[in-house]
Amino acid sequence: MEIKNICCIGAGYVGGPTMAVIALKNPHLKITIVDANPDKIKAWNGPLENLPVYEPGLADVIQETRGKNLFFSDDIDNAIIKAEMIFMSVNTPTKTEGEGAGMASDLRYIEACARNIAKVATTDKIVIEKSTLPVRTAEKIKEILDLEGNGVHFEILSNPEFLAEGTAIQDLLEPDRVLIGGDETESGQESVSALVDIYANWIPKDKILATNVWSSELSKLAANAMLAQRVSSINSLSALCEKTGANIDELSKAIGMDHRIGSHFLKASVGFGGSCFQKDILNLVYLCKYYGLDEVAEYWHQVVKINDYQKDRFAQKIINHFGGDLSGKRIAILGWAFKANTNDTRESPSIFVAEKLFNVGATLEIYDPMVSKESILNDIQAYWNCSSQIVQDRIRILNKTSSIKDSDAVAILTEWNEFKKIEFYKSKVFDGRNVLEESFYSIGKNK
Ligand code: NAD
Ligand code: UGA
Repeated sequence: MEIKNICCIGAGYVGGPTMAVIALKNPHLKITIVDANPDKIKAWNGPLENLPVYEPGLADVIQETRGKNLFFSDDIDNAIIKAEMIFMSVNTPTKTEGEGAGMASDLRYIEACARNIAKVATTDKIVIEKSTLPVRTAEKIKEILDLEGNGVHFEILSNPEFLAEGTAIQDLLEPDRVLIGGDETESGQESVSALVDIYANWIPKDKILATNVWSSELSKLAANAMLAQRVSSINSLSALCEKTGANIDELSKAIGMDHRIGSHFLKASVGFGGSCFQKDILNLVYLCKYYGLDEVAEYWHQVVKINDYQKDRFAQKIINHFGGDLSGKRIAILGWAFKANTNDTRESPSIFVAEKLFNVGATLEIYDPMVSKESILNDIQAYWNCSSQIVQDRIRILNKTSSIKDSDAVAILTEWNEFKKIEFYKSKVFDGRNVLEESFYSIGKNK
C-alpha cells in the first residue's frame, strides 16, 4: 500500500511533537492531526508562542511544517477516511472506576478511536498503536475494527513512543531506537515495511527494531518500569544516606561510573512525576496480578510505593522543622512542573508536597516559570480536598521570585536552572532536586 496521507488521532504531548517531526522529515506525506477537543486544535493552529505543548525546538518545527504538509483539524471522520495510515495517540490514564480501578489502564479513549475508525473507514487502513497500552491490546482493537467495520482490511501495528518531555524534539530527531511490532503474516510484514520506510528517512536502519506485536507493547511498559525503578532505587538509598552521613550525589557518581550500571537516571529527587511512570507501572502490576504472578506484581509495586514514601518524607522534613504546625508560616514552592523544560504538571510531586504543607496550616507562594496560574489553580482544585475560600486566603501564585526572600522556608520541587541563581538570603531552603551547592536540607545529604 502506498502511503500518502497520515492521520493522527490525539493532538497531545505525543501526537503533536511526533507528527511534527515525521512531517518535517517526510515532506512528501500529508499529515493531519485531529483531536476531540476543538480548543486544542485552535491552539495548535494559533500563535507559535501559545502552542498547547511547550517543548524546546517544537515551535520551529511547527513553523516549518504547519500549513505545508502538517495540518491540525477537528474533522476527525474526514481525516480518517482520507488516510492510509492512522496513528492512535490518545491518553490512557489509570482507571478510576470499575474493575481494576486505581491500577489498570483506562482504555475507553483508545476503544473510542477504534470505533470511530471502524465506523467511517471505507478503504483498507494500517492502524498504529502510538499510545502506551497493556500487552495484548491489539487483540481487542482488532476485534472492534473487524466487528464494527465495513468489511475493509485493518492491519494493526504497535509503535510505542519513547520521547521524554522537555527533550521531545531531540529524542524524536535522534532516538535510541524506534520499535515496531507487527504480525508475522504477509500483510503484517508489508505494513511494518511501510512504517519502517517513513522512519528510515532520518533514522539509521539499525536503530529501527521490528518485533512481534506483544513484545512491542510490553517493551514500552517494561522500559518505563526499569527507568522509574532506578529513580526509586536511588531515592530509597537517599534515606539511608541521611541516616549514615553518606552523600547521595557521591553515591550516584560512584555507582554510575560502573559501565554495567551507567550514569543515567540516578539523580536523587523528591520523587518522580509525569503522566506515565506511575500509571504504566500500576498497569504492569495489574497485568502481573491478572496472570497470577503475585510476586512479580509486588516487586514492581514497590517502585511506586517508594516514590510515595519519598514525596511524603520530603514534606515531613519541612513540617518537622517547624514542630508539626505551619500555621502563620509562609512557604515558597519553587517549581510546579514535574520536571524542567516542560509545562506539564501531571502527577507532579509539587501537587502532593504543597497539599501536605497546606493541610498543616502553611501559607503558600507558588512560582513556576512555565506553568500558568490557571493550570496551578486547576491542579489544586482537581487534586486537593479543600474549599476554594481557604485556597484564596492562603495561596498566592507568583510571577517572579523577588518576594520569596521573606518566606520562612523555600521548597525547590522542579530543577529549573533559574533557581540556581536566586539569592535566598536567610530563607531555609529545602532542596528537593539537589540543584543548589548548599542548602538547609538536600535530598540524601544531611545526617
Ligand atoms: P495527552 O492527554 O496530552 O493527549 C491525548 C489527546 O487525545 C487529548 O488531546 C485528547 O483530547 C485526545 N483524545 C482522546 N480521546 C480522543 C478521541 N476518541 N478522539 C480524538 N481525540 C481524542 O496525552 P499524551 O501525553 O500525548 O499521551 C498519549 C499516549 O502516549 C499515552 O498513552 C501516554 O502513555 C503515551 N506516551 C506519553 C508520553 C509523554 O511524554 N507524554 C511519552 C510516551 C508515550
Ligand atoms: C518518561 C521516559 O523517560 C520516556 O522514555 C517515556 O517515553 C515517557 O516517560 C512516557 O512514556 O511518558 P518523562 O516522564 O517525560 O519520560 O520524563 P523523565 O525524564 O523520564 O522524568 C520522569 C520523572 O523522573 C521526572 O519527575 C524527573 O524529574 C524524575 N527523575 C528522572 C528523577 O527524579 N531522577 C532521575 O535521575 C531521572
